[in-house]
Amino acid sequence: MHNDISEILVSEQEIQEICQRLGKEVTKDYQDKSPILVGLLKGCVPFMADISRHIDLKFDMAYMSVSSYHGGIASSGDVKIKLDLDISIKGRDVIIVEDIVDTANTIVTIIELFKHRGASSVKMVTLLDKPEGRVRPYQPDYVGKVIPKAFVVGYGLDYNEYYRNLPYVGVLKPEVYST
Ligand code: PRP
Repeated sequence: MHNDISEILVSEQEIQEICQRLGKEVTKDYQDKSPILVGLLKGCVPFMADISRHIDLKFDMAYMSVSSYHGGIASSGDVKIKLDLDISIKGRDVIIVEDIVDTANTIVTIIELFKHRGASSVKMVTLLDKPEGRVRPYQPDYVGKVIPKAFVVGYGLDYNEYYRNLPYVGVLKPEVYST
C-alpha cells in the first residue's frame, strides 16, 4: 500500500467485480439501444476503460473535461467545462461515466446541460457514491459502491493531480493535505 494511504476502501479485485456487475446491468437495460458513453475527464479514465469492456452492446464513447475541485479537497460548486464533447448528443441515449458522485454539483449540472442539448435520455454510472457529501439532491442510476465521507484517491481519483494511478481506491492520510 502507498505510504500516503491510510486504508484501502475498494480493492483491485472488488473494482473488477463492480465493473462486471454494472456492465451486465447496463447491457441488459439498453438491449435494444445504441447508447453513447460519456466519460467526465479526468477521473473517469480507468473506470471507463474497465466497465466498457463489460458492456456488450453497440455503443460509442466520448469525453468531456469538467472540473469543480480546482486542485483542492472541497468542491468549489463552480463547474467548469474545460473541454467539450466533439459530437452531438441530440436524440441519443446518454450514459455518463463518473468515478465519484460527492456534492453532485458536477453531475446535476451536466445532466441539465445534456437535456438542454436534446439527449433522448440521460443516465449515469458511477464507481463510487458518497451520499453524505450531497449539496444537491441526486441519486445515481448505477452505483458501484457507497462510501463514507472520507477523502479518497486512486483508480482515477486525485489529490492535486497525484494518485490517479493507484490500482485501488484508498483514504488519503489527512496529514498529506493539511500540511
Ligand atoms: C471529481 C470527480 C467528479 C466530481 C464529483 O472531478 O471526477 O467529476 O469531482 O464531485 P461532485 O459530486 O462534488 O461534483 P474533479 O472536478 O476533481 O476533476 P477530475 O475528474 O479531473 O479530477
